[in-house]
Amino acid sequence: MTKPTNSPDITPRKNSDGGFYSDVVKDHFFHPKNFMEDESAYKADGQGVVGSPACGDVMRVWIKVDPKTERLTDCRWKTFGCASAIAATSMMSTMVIENNGMTLEQARQIRPQDIMERLGGLPARKIHCSVLGDKALRSAINDYYRKSGQIDKIEIEQGRVIDKVLKITDHDIEEAVLEGADTLDKIQSKTKVGTGDPSCIPEVEQLMKFYKEKYFG
Ligand code: FES
Repeated sequence: MTKPTNSPDITPRKNSDGGFYSDVVKDHFFHPKNFMEDESAYKADGQGVVGSPACGDVMRVWIKVDPKTERLTDCRWKTFGCASAIAATSMMSTMVIENNGMTLEQARQIRPQDIMERLGGLPARKIHCSVLGDKALRSAINDYYRKSGQIDKIEIEQGRVIDKVLKITDHDIEEAVLEGADTLDKIQSKTKVGTGDPSCIPEVEQLMKFYKEKYFG
């Protein structure tokens, strides 16, 4: 895990949007909730791991599930990510177990926007950090379903090729939006989508609209 006291991200400062990290973000960074201290002694019902294509950081999530209600009774995490990833995942882990815990289906629907709202926002360039936790959580939920023999409930997030020439998928578009690309020009400068196969541009614009709505409301 990134050492909280050493991270350059802990100092309140102007972010790219002209604002500061909220007090809630700072609290969850300085006092992370549900951090995994000793995974060797933890009996998880499911675990998931994801890496960030944007920055190369890694997030791990472990869950415990009440098999009768399929509600989360515990959610632990560990990351090599930055302060924003720590704060966002700490908040996510709090949200999914508060009020007797979310059902697995509710937890699977949690959106980065929901987490960011509870955090009081994050700088735009840090939004990709906030999606690591919920991606790893969905992977852990799939792992639980796999281990409990409920294979039909597993949902795999697969990429669909949008630009057949450059082999750019909908996940690439999603990542670009999460990194702050909110116009076609910006998406193209990040991904080059459509420069090899212009016929995909209308679909790219639709996806951009969809992901902007999904993550930013
Ligand atoms: S920069 Fe990698 S998780 Fe934030």
